Amino acid sequence: MTDQAPAPYVGKPRVLSGVQPSGDLHLGNYLGALVKFARLQHEMQTFIFVADLHAITAWQDPAKLKNQVREIAAAYLATGLDPKVATIFAQSAVPAHAELAWVFNCVARLGWLDRMTQFKDKAGKHKERESVGLYTYPVLQAADILIYKATHVPVGEDQRQHLELTRDIAAKFNHDFEAPGFFPLPEALIQGPGARIMSLRDGAVKMSKSDPSDNSRINLTDDADTISQKIRKARTDADVLPEKLEDLADRAEAQNLIGVYAALAGRTPQDVLTEFAGQGFGAFKPKLADLAVSVMGPIGGEMRRLLSDPAEIDRILGAGAERAREVAAPTLAEVKRIVGYWAG
Ligand code: TRP
Repeated sequence: MTDQAPAPYVGKPRVLSGVQPSGDLHLGNYLGALVKFARLQHEMQTFIFVADLHAITAWQDPAKLKNQVREIAAAYLATGLDPKVATIFAQSAVPAHAELAWVFNCVARLGWLDRMTQFKDKAGKHKERESVGLYTYPVLQAADILIYKATHVPVGEDQRQHLELTRDIAAKFNHDFEAPGFFPLPEALIQGPGARIMSLRDGAVKMSKSDPSDNSRINLTDDADTISQKIRKARTDADVLPEKLEDLADRAEAQNLIGVYAALAGRTPQDVLTEFAGQGFGAFKPKLADLAVSVMGPIGGEMRRLLSDPAEIDRILGAGAERAREVAAPTLAEVKRIVGYWAG
C-alpha cells in the first residue's frame, strides 16, 4: 500500500523500439523495422534506442561494441529518423532501464519466462551454459518499453511473445502494487509490408544477421555491385511468374522476391505480379536488382558518410540520452515510491 494513489496512465500514445548492436543490419531490418520507425515518428512521440545492454547477453568484443552502437545509430539516421523529431539514444546511457528491470525481475514469474520460445531457440540444448541475462532478456525489454510508458512497439513477428510478456508484467505490477493503470499495456505493431523478409538462399527461413551465408541477406552497407550480385544469385525456381498471388503459395523463394520488390516499391505483391506475369526470373531479377540498388544504395552511402564522423553521432546520441533520461526519471521515481524503497 502506498500513502498516495499513483496517477493512472492517461498519457498520449508513444512509440518505442530498439535494435541490438550485434551484427550488420540487413534488408529485413530495413523493411520490417527502420522504415516503420521513420514513418511513425511523424505520428506519435517516438523513442528509438540501440540495445547495448541486451547485446551483451551474448559475448560482444568490448573493443567493438561502441562502434556497433554507432553503426545502428547511423542506420537510424540514414533511413530517415530525425533526431529533432524522435529521441534516439543508447540504452546504456539511461540507467533507469536497468533499475526498472530489477523491479520487473521481481514481478515476472519463472513460469512466464520458461515459456519464452526465443530463449529456447537461442539456448538450444545447453541452456545451463547461457548467461542469466539471456534468460531475463525479455524482462529488460519490458523495462525498456514501460520506463517511457510506451503504448506502441513496432517489432518483428518474433517479438510478439515478448510484447505479451510486457503486458503481463505491466498488469501484474499495476495489480500487485494497487496502482491501477499506472503502466499502459503496450501494443505490438507487427502488420504491414515487409513484416517477414526471408533469406535469399532459403525461402523457409527469415533473413537474419546470424545466418552464416552473407549471400542470404542484403546488408545495409552493401555497395551496388554486391546488392546486384546477391540478387542474381538468389535461389529461385525455373517457372515463370503467375498472374495470381495464390499461385505462388508453394513457391517460397519466388514469393519472397515478389514481396521484397513490392515492399521496396511501396506497391502490393499482386500489383507487382500483374506487371511481371508470364516472365521468368531471368527477366525479373535485373529489375529487382535495379530497384534494390536505387533504394538501398543511398542508405549505405549515407551510413558510410555518417560513420566517418563518429563524434557527430556521439553528439546526437548524447542529446537523445539526455532527453530520454528526463522522460524516464519521473516514472522511475514513482516506481520507487510505489514499491516502498528506502531511496524512493
Ligand atoms: N528484442 C528486440 C529484438 O531483438 C530488441 C529490443 C530490445 C526491443 N528492447 C526492446 C524492441 C524494446 C522493442 C522494444 O528485436
